[in-house]
Amino acid sequence: MKVLIVGSGGREHAIAWAVAKSEKVDKIYCAPGNAGISEFAECVAIGAMEFDKLVAFAKENEVDFTIIGMDDPLVGGVVDAFEAEGLKVFGPRANAAIIEGSKAFSKDLMKKYNIPTAAYENFYDMDAALAYLETAKMPIVLKADGLALGKGVLICNTLEEAKEGVKEIMGEKKFGSAGDKMVIEEFMTGREVSVLAFCDGKTVKCMTSAQDHKRAMDGDKGLNTGGMGTFSPSPFYTKEVQEFCEKYVYQPTIDAMAAEGRPFTGILFTGLMLTEDGPKVLEYNARFGDPEAQVVLPRMKNDIIEVMEACVEGRLDEIDLEFEDNAAVCVILASDGYPVSYKKGYEITGLETFKEHEGYYCFHAGSKFDGDKIVTNGGRVLGVTAKGATLQEARKNAYAATEWVSFENKYKRNDIGKAIDEA
Ligand code: AMP
Ligand code: GLY
Repeated sequence: MKVLIVGSGGREHAIAWAVAKSEKVDKIYCAPGNAGISEFAECVAIGAMEFDKLVAFAKENEVDFTIIGMDDPLVGGVVDAFEAEGLKVFGPRANAAIIEGSKAFSKDLMKKYNIPTAAYENFYDMDAALAYLETAKMPIVLKADGLALGKGVLICNTLEEAKEGVKEIMGEKKFGSAGDKMVIEEFMTGREVSVLAFCDGKTVKCMTSAQDHKRAMDGDKGLNTGGMGTFSPSPFYTKEVQEFCEKYVYQPTIDAMAAEGRPFTGILFTGLMLTEDGPKVLEYNARFGDPEAQVVLPRMKNDIIEVMEACVEGRLDEIDLEFEDNAAVCVILASDGYPVSYKKGYEITGLETFKEHEGYYCFHAGSKFDGDKIVTNGGRVLGVTAKGATLQEARKNAYAATEWVSFENKYKRNDIGKAIDEA
């Protein structure tokens, strides 16, 4: 069959790698893709938000199955556009992707269906939000309602900071229309875990757990980024935590969406915080995490297309998800200066070394061809993943492999997976 993948990051590279392993697939397209993805897929120059062109391409090229990797097109209704033309597509419709697209929606859903999360209030008006802060306990968390590239969350330690934050989000519209509404919520402490799950509208099957490192610098300092590295599984996601979340979080979420007339098909990504009072939901996303996909998919034994088709056809209950009994670590190689300002266009060398080593992967996040050279083309450039029998071994392997590749302004965190040692 022919498969089209929509997106251009490390996540889509990992998805393309997994799809390429499927025996059912003989042709992969990726729109728009990147230099790394072109090893597995024919990249086509159509943007992820150009729904009409994507649908026309799928029809003209007789694409059998389309996979949407990114959040913006999902929230914008790309799945609805494909379905309207009778095309098979993996991902939630707009009315379900809202679970990621509106934090106010997801908080209200959790409250209505008793899914554990931080206490909160939604605000539609800046003055009301400012007034609320006067009696609120610090630190406090401010969240722009809509999509903001993972940057719309502010943790404020003082009343002054919080007021400033509300003004930035709702007054100055620092995150654009994402700040038309906002959530103000209780600050929680604990370990974070990401759990990705396949869903078919009624059944939910979780993948192995992972943990991301969102801040730019070692020791979780610096600005929030799209993610600087991941490890999988999380040793803090114990059997007990998993059982709790299966009972009180994942299935209740899928049931709640169905009850609201918004059946969720695709990948539900639950960001959890393991607090002293038990696991609580930080956020939901409606797609694979990036760079969570880069550590979870290399450990998955199933044929990804078989699982995704089962989701679209409402028969996920027939599938047993299986993961290797090992570990993986992904270290992001970024352009120095990310996430603020950075130069790109530098030649990347050493990529061929990965082909000679089993269990090592170099997923491209921001790269492109410049003649026959591959050059940097983004803030996050590469995700270097390695497997190992243990998390410690995977981390050692991943860091060793980060030395195989070079480009001029290469930057990485040096403490990805350090938390493993405390487990
Ligand atoms: P989100 O996009 O909602 O996952 O928020 C991004 C990051 O902000 C999370 O990964 C947490 O590190 C942090 N965060 C979000 N909500 C809270 C909260 N209520 N308490 C503490 N930290 C939070
Ligand atoms: N790694 C976090 C995300 O994909 O949103």
